[in-house]
Formats: sequence, structure tokens, C-alpha cells
Amino acid sequence: MKERIKQILSRQPGDEVISVEGWVRTKRDSKNVCFLEINDGSTVKGLQAVVDKASFGNENLLGEVTTGAAVRCTGRLVASQGQAQSVELALETLEIVGTCPSDYPLQKKRHTIEFLREIAYLRPRTNLIGAVMRVRSTLAYAIHTFFQERGFVYVNTPLITTSDCEGAGETFQVTTLDLANVPVGKDGVDYSKDFFGKKASLTVSGQLEGESYALALKDIYTFGPTFRAENSNTTRHLAEFWMVEPEMAFCDIELDEEVAESFLKYIFRYVLDKCPEEMAFFDSFVLKGNIDTLRHVIDTPFARMTYTDAIKELEKVNDQFDFPVHWGSDIQTEHEKYLTEVVCKRPVIVTDYPKEIKAFYMKMNEDGRTVRGMDVLVPRLGEIIGGSEREADYDRLLGRIVELGLNPDDYRWYLETRRFGSVPHAGFGLGFERAVQYVTGVANIRDVIPFPRYVKSADF
Ligand code: 4AD
Ligand code: MG
Repeated sequence: MKERIKQILSRQPGDEVISVEGWVRTKRDSKNVCFLEINDGSTVKGLQAVVDKASFGNENLLGEVTTGAAVRCTGRLVASQGQAQSVELALETLEIVGTCPSDYPLQKKRHTIEFLREIAYLRPRTNLIGAVMRVRSTLAYAIHTFFQERGFVYVNTPLITTSDCEGAGETFQVTTLDLANVPVGKDGVDYSKDFFGKKASLTVSGQLEGESYALALKDIYTFGPTFRAENSNTTRHLAEFWMVEPEMAFCDIELDEEVAESFLKYIFRYVLDKCPEEMAFFDSFVLKGNIDTLRHVIDTPFARMTYTDAIKELEKVNDQFDFPVHWGSDIQTEHEKYLTEVVCKRPVIVTDYPKEIKAFYMKMNEDGRTVRGMDVLVPRLGEIIGGSEREADYDRLLGRIVELGLNPDDYRWYLETRRFGSVPHAGFGLGFERAVQYVTGVANIRDVIPFPRYVKSADF
């Protein structure tokens, strides 16, 4: 493996000739010397290469080195005279691997995040997106580490499905039918002619399939792409996002909440430990105080509150909200933020929601009105995790499916799992991009996934 700039920057000056490959971020020319900042995506800070023009000689070659060009250079590491770095490369040879013309869009050091979104195929070459994507990668590793260390089995659930997990109908259909010439039977579209012989869609969650594996392997987790055709143009919704869904057999809602809390703390701490340079960068340029906030979250027990108590708190200040609440209404972003930022001043787990506003699979409480669902809300973002204890009783589960007007045939296999050795079980889903948003402080979810998909946007 070739050495990356991150490793080179941690070295001491020395006589050995080393080789560096990367892209030129900036070029500063003066009469006798030329400074090139070279970045290879391994760090926020690049390596400064210093060209002594007199000894280098080849003015023409140096002239062709422009911002964005790919270069390979050799030289010796020397102590830097500048404040910004401890070592720099005293350049000896230079090779241009790929030239870069002057219409390269990333000429300046700073660009607006909206502009960068329009060049999603180039934006990883910026400090910001580069740092976000390194943190995203580390966070994924932290998630696997947390579960693997605890014996959870990583299960890959299907992306194409015929059962709508959340029952909300916000699915993307998957079909090979000719849309200009759809076969029609007496009840509308004749799906027996379609690829799968029935109506299929992209999954909105791997939970249902995950449950059947938890009922065999006990503790499992999924981590994969998820698709929702929600027409919501917000800073926290994508049409294609990644979700992490642990599912635990012989587990009730209290244990589920404990796992969710220790899981979030673990992955936040992991990133603070492994990505100090990126985290310092976000703290300076994206969200001031972000590191302190994360430390506070790691060190403080999350608050717990029932939905009913949450509504009581919210009703006191109903005049502040665009959507005033009452018992039975959905808790929206503005309410989530108020609960976690103002009432609790830390993350809060809200539990026991009215059955009407939650999915069919949640276990009913004794009161017959509320279900054992839980949402983890964090300051600035609102909901980051949604989970529940599942209805493990066959008849009650069937009852809920029928009550909600869903077709029991679509959930036949899922119902069967309740007939053969059914046990209490619970799990949750973490929106992976929301977690990346939270640790980096980046305001818009579209900037924490390489190629965001949302309403009217899947261009590259
Ligand atoms: O609350 P949700 O809808 O829960 C489920 O899908 C359950 N099946 C999870 C489970 O119990 N296994 O989604 C879980 C999380 C949300 O809390 C949110 O963080 C994220 O997924 N999420 C989205 N992230 C980005 N864009 C969207 N459109 C999202 N919808 C949900
Ligand atoms: Mg939810």
C-alpha cells in the first residue's frame, strides 16, 4: 500500500526520498518559490510541497500545474517554516498525472453548500464533504463494531418486497410492465403478468424480515438502503437512505430503550476518538460547540417521557407552534425539538404512543389505546431512532392488520412467525444519515450522503 498524506504528515523530517500522489488544491507562486497544497482525501489538511524554482528549472512543467490537477511528486520531508504545518515536502521531481483546465468548478477555497450539491460528483474533493464522508465511513464501522462485539448477527434483508413494513404506502413500485401498455384485468392492473407475479416495491424497512431472523438467531441487525416515496422536502428526509435495524428476541421495550441509548453513545464516542481532525474541523466551520454537545450527550442519561406527558408539556405552549397539538396528534419536528431542546435539554426517549399514529406491528399496552413504541429525539434534529416492542401474539397482530385495512394475505408469512415459538421481541431503526448529520453538525441531510435522492432529484 502506498503511504497516504495523513501518515506522511505525522512523520518527522528525514533524508529519505518519498513519493506523494494527490490533487492540487492551491498553487501560490512567487519569484523564487512555488507552493503547492496537495490533498489525497485522507485529511483535511493537505501536504505543502515547496518548489525551489532555480533548482527545479522546468518552468514550463510548473506552469501546467493548476488547481485540480492530479500530480505525483517526490522529495524530502523538511521542517516547515510556516505556521500551518510541521513538515513540508521539498519537491525534487514532479509528474502531472492528469491536467485540469481553468473551468474546473472548485477554483476557490470556499463554496456554498448549495453550489456543491449541484456538482455532487466533484464535491468529495472539498474539505467539508471529504471530512463528512470519512466520518460517515467511520460511523458505519462503529455501528458494525458495536453489534459484532455483542454477538449480533448481520443480516441482509431484501430490497425488493411485497409487504409494506410501515403500512404507510410511501413505496416506490418495482415493475417490468410496459407503462405505456399496462395489462388490465377486471380488478385493475393485472400483476400476474408482472415480473414477480404480484405488486412489488422497494423496501421501506428491513424490520419484518429482520424479525424472522431474530426469532432464530436471537440478536440480529440489518444495515442497508431503504426507500421512501415521501413527498417531504425537508432537511432530514431522503427518498433513498440507509437504516440500521437491530432486532432482539426475548427482549421488551425497556431493554430496547437501553440498547438504543448505549448504542448511540458508543458510536458518537467512537467517532470523537477516531476522527479528531474532522471533528475539530466541523466544530470550527460547521457548528460551533458541536464537540461539547456530543460529549454532553455521551455523559448524560437520556430523559424518558411518555407520549401523554409529552403532549401535556406541549399543550402548555401550543401558541408557539405552527401545528398545535392535542392527545392523539402526531408529534412533528417543531414539537420534537421543543421537547428535547427546551423541556429536557438532552436526548429524550418518548414512549407509549396512541396506536392510531404508529405502525400495525407495535405491541399494544394494557390500556388498549397506546402501543409500546419509542422514539429517540435529539436536540437540533428531532427523531433519530424509531422503535418498538413487537406484537408477538398471533390473534392480536392479525386484529391490528385487519383493523388498519391492510391485506392479511400480504403479511401471511409474518403472521406465521407468531405461531411457531413466538417470543417477546423488540428492535429499532436508526436513520444512518441522521446520525451522520448529528455527529458532523451538517444542517441538511442531502450533504451527508454521496449522491442524494429526493423529490425531483436523481441527476447523478
Ligand atoms: O421511524 P421509522 O419509520 O421506523 C421504522 O422504519 C421501523 N421499521 C424501525 C424498526 O423498528 N426496526 O424509521 C426509523 C428511522 C427514523 O427514526 C429516522 O431516523 C430514519 O429512520 N428515517 C429517515 N431518514 C432519512 N430519510 C427519510 N425519509 C427517513 N425516514 C425515516
Ligand atoms: Mg419514526
